Amino acid sequence: MSFIEWNVNLYTGLPDVDQQHNKLVALVNRLTEVSEHDQDVLDQAFHELKDYVIEHFTLEERLMDEAKIDPMHIDYHKNAHALFVAKVAGLWETRDNDDGQTLNAMLEFLKSWILQHILQTDRKMASEVHEKMGTEAPHNMFQHF
Ligand SMILES: [Fe+2]
Repeated sequence: MSFIEWNVNLYTGLPDVDQQHNKLVALVNRLTEVSEHDQDVLDQAFHELKDYVIEHFTLEERLMDEAKIDPMHIDYHKNAHALFVAKVAGLWETRDNDDGQTLNAMLEFLKSWILQHILQTDRKMASEVHEKMGTEAPHNMFQHF
């Protein structure tokens, strides 16, 4: 069983976003499989994840700007992204290499934040984007999967 299990409720119905969320989950899962003693591999896996997170947030933020959804949502959502990036960078920098607990705490934070963010904020964004674009809402997408 993976650290983060993908499930149908995580779909937003926005194909690019869903594809990137899948990859994001895969990168977090991969990070959990690296031994805490293998610092080089761990470092590489973390930085790959961090770069991908930034790339993914950029896509979502562009999508929101282009769709011109509620500016209050856009502000809130961009702020949530920025806080997450700062928090994860802090957890990574202050981790104790000799103690797996700080790494595990970071992984648990990643997992809970990502799942909660997708289920609440990203799906809210998706329903607003679908409404603006006249495309299919997520609940209608599920039947295709
Ligand atoms: Fe997001």
